[in-house]
Order: sequence, then C-alpha cells, then structure tokens
Amino acid sequence: MAKNVALVTGGMGGLGTAICKALHDDGWKVVANCLPDFPPAAEWLAKTKAEGYDFFVGEADVTNYEQCVAMVQKIEAEIGPIDCLVNNAGITRDAVFRKMNKDQWDAVLSTNLDSVFNVTHPVLPLMAERGFGRVINISSVNGVKGQFGQANYSAAKAGLLGITKALAQEVAKKGVTVNAVAPGYVGTEMVLAIKEEVREQIVATVPVGRLGRPEEIADLCAYLASDKAGYITGATININGGLHMV
Ligand code: CAA
Repeated sequence: MAKNVALVTGGMGGLGTAICKALHDDGWKVVANCLPDFPPAAEWLAKTKAEGYDFFVGEADVTNYEQCVAMVQKIEAEIGPIDCLVNNAGITRDAVFRKMNKDQWDAVLSTNLDSVFNVTHPVLPLMAERGFGRVINISSVNGVKGQFGQANYSAAKAGLLGITKALAQEVAKKGVTVNAVAPGYVGTEMVLAIKEEVREQIVATVPVGRLGRPEEIADLCAYLASDKAGYITGATININGGLHMV
C-alpha cells in the first residue's frame, strides 16, 4: 500500500511533533494540525524543515466540527488522500474534583474527546470507501487506570478507548484499523507542568524508573500505521514503563 497522507492533530506539541517525524521517516506525507493562525506554526515549520522534515499544516480548531470538515476537504483536495489519522490533540486542566469547575471539565472533554468525533467523522467514510485506513487514538495510562486530580482527563481518555473499540468493529471489513495508544508519563511540556514534587512522586512509582521519551510513543504509532499492523484493531496498547500493567 502506497503511503499517502497522515494527519496528526495537535501535531506541533511534544508528542505530536515526534509522531509527525516518525511517520515522515516512514515515508508518509504528514499534515500537522494546529489551531487557525497558530502563532508558533511558522517557527515550528522552519525548525523541522532545518532538521530535514517537509511537513504540511492543517488548520482547524479540533473542538469545532465545521472547521474539521473543512480541513479534511482541503487536505484531500490539495495534498492527497488521508490514509492515516492520529487523534493526538489533548490538554490537561488538573484539579481535584471538588475544586474542578465546569470550564475545566468542558475544555478537556471537548478538546480530548469531542475532537475525535469532529476529525474522524469526515475521514473514516473516505478510508472505508478506499479500502484502507489507520486511525490511532492517543489515550493515556490515566484513561485506563484513572488518576487523582484528573476526573476530566481520565473520563475523556477512557472515552477514547470506547470509541476505538466501537469504530474498529464498524470498519474492520473495510481495511481500516482503529487502535488506541495509552502512553504513561512522557517527557513533554504537559508532564513537566506538573509540580516538581508531585511529578517526582509519580516517576518514583514507574518500574522503568524514568519518564517515557516522545520518540518511543511515536515509533509505536508509526508501526500501527504501517501495513505490518493490519491484524491489530480495537486494541489498547499500553506504553507506560510498567506504571500500570494490564
Ligand atoms: N492519591 C491520593 N491522594 C493524593 C494523591 C494521590 N495520587 N495526590 C495528592 N493527594 C493528596 C495530597 O497528599 C493532599 O493531601 P492532604 O491535603 O491530606 O495533604 C491532597 O491530596 C491535595 O493534594 P495537592 O496538594 O497536590 O492538591 P493541589 O490542589 O495542590 O493539586 C493536583 C492537585 C493539581 C491535581 C495535583 O495533585 C497534581 O498535579 N497531581 C498530578 C496529576 C497528574 O498526574 N496529572 C498528569 C498530567 S500529565 C498527563 O496527563 C499526561 C498523561 O497522559 C499521563
């Protein structure tokens, strides 16, 4: 199967950038999604270009369905068929539940879960029609086990596991696989934003004894996107240094 376009939502973040690079290294034409008029986009493109990467940019607020539909149409018309979608966009608004306000709940649910509907809905029928597709949903260890201070994030990331299994069944006969990757604590800005003493306590509980590297998650995504992974679907692949063994 020729590798066409891979779309990575939140493609310019810590994990997103690593995923874009791994897919590019594997021969995909990679579109990094970001918010419309995202100020750091030009610098990100220039920096990755200097490293030898030729990325495209797909602008859309993933919480906005119409913008996602328009982004998908534009990519299909101007760059090529989207054969791989990595739903990676995500944010945290951590707080213990009694202190969590509705805005913190809504922001995380819409960015981390509604976004998966918004981007996948216009792409999946095209993949099914063409008889090939790879959808990779970036969940989290905290969607699998739950996490103190993350009722919103754990709910959204657990929701991703549900949609993964439902969609996998709907498109399995069409050559489209749908899988979830559940990373543990990876050395990105999101994790480095946790108070140092809290983070140190968490890392101390990871059997491997360190944070994950973005590239380790990205390489798994590249494998799931490849032809070799055609028999893996509806799976949740845990990659968490042993933090939670299932
Ligand atoms: N289990 C049980 N109790 C806990 C606890 C835990 N894991 N963590 C903290 N507590 C207790 C504390 O000991 C404290 O108890 P006392 O009041 O009796 O002393 C109480 O809960 C309050 O804790 P904090 O002082 O930490 O409360 P806070 O309001 O200052 O901070 C918080 C709350 C922001 C949620 C903070 O605890 C925190 O940042 N926790 C980490 C959350 C986390 O893991 N986020 C992951 C972000 S990265 C990510 O999400 C990527 C990914 O996919 C993995």
